[in-house]
Amino acid sequence: MPKDIFNFSAGPALIPQSVIERIHSGLDDFHRGLSIVEVSHRSHAFKEYAKSSESSLRNLLSISDEYSILFLQGGATHQFALIPMNFSKNGVLDYLVTGAWSKKASEYANKVANVNIVSDSSSNNFTNVADPKKWNISDDPDYFFYCANETVHGLELHNPIESDSPVICDMSSTIASRPIDINKYDLVFAGAQKNLGIAGLTILIIKNKLLSDCNKELLPMFDYSAHAEEASMLNTSPVFSWYVSGFIFDWITEQGGVRMMGKVNMEKSSLLYNYIDESSFYSNPVSKPYRSWMNIPFILARDDLENDFIQSAEDEGLFNLKGHRTVGGMRASVYNAMPIEGIKKLIAFMDDFAKLHE
Ligand SMILES: Cc1ncc(COP(=O)(O)O)c(C=O)c1O
Repeated sequence: MPKDIFNFSAGPALIPQSVIERIHSGLDDFHRGLSIVEVSHRSHAFKEYAKSSESSLRNLLSISDEYSILFLQGGATHQFALIPMNFSKNGVLDYLVTGAWSKKASEYANKVANVNIVSDSSSNNFTNVADPKKWNISDDPDYFFYCANETVHGLELHNPIESDSPVICDMSSTIASRPIDINKYDLVFAGAQKNLGIAGLTILIIKNKLLSDCNKELLPMFDYSAHAEEASMLNTSPVFSWYVSGFIFDWITEQGGVRMMGKVNMEKSSLLYNYIDESSFYSNPVSKPYRSWMNIPFILARDDLENDFIQSAEDEGLFNLKGHRTVGGMRASVYNAMPIEGIKKLIAFMDDFAKLHE
């Protein structure tokens, strides 16, 4: 991204400039003159790369040997289908619905088994979460599913949810944005195209104990344990996307790891939320304890100015601020690779725009 251009897309999202430069070298020559986009996933050179990228991710997120890591295609949505197929046994699955993504996941699962909705935030337009004491938890569900960060609605559960049953979490838009204790989860998954790379790769971190419980009746392509046995190479792997993610793992490590990411992400989001809260022209509807550090939706006091806002922002080099098509308004996605200068430039623009129209 040229200097002074900032991409606030919710995903596929921005990639650090230094990573883009490193990708170029692999495009020219990954191994013995062959480009990364023409090497086999089964080549020795790529298998070595795959092994080293897995170990970088293990170090970055402090993932122990009790967990396997899968690098698959299909996106997070594909996991919405595979998770109930693999882990539904007794037929009751607990889903916490806090936004568009967990809602979709629960609808997919409901086609496979009986979904019990623990709590549903749709009654407050996904701006708040009911007190956990009021949640309707099943006696012995096969697992408990939730989405840590709802990308569309900008609602984030900032602490892990504990459960007696296996905890499965969609971390597509929050993974690696701060330290997380993987040991609190049985399965974490994320599409790579926000904090971990580009579209085409989905990363799963899955406890070996849960892996051994996969439904063995499934065809191998749908069975997580079959993918694990083949080291994510059951069929052609998403070589290029995996390659890019390796550089992202290194980049986060060089920046100071997830601890530093967390510190900077908190600072970035606070700056923008504080500005919005102090303004009479902009507002964010999400209850403060659940405000996302990654995706910050906001609306203008005058919705007739939305197109003008987006066009004027683009003229200033601030891209992809339009809210999700189902909720409207604006949304600034401020993933790891968004520098604090991007937030400052956005706030300065918002301030000028408000003064012009207040
Ligand atoms: C939290 C979350 N879950 C799931 C998805 C779906 O991901 P994919 O399009 O990779 O299937 C997204 C996409 O933005 C997301 O943000």
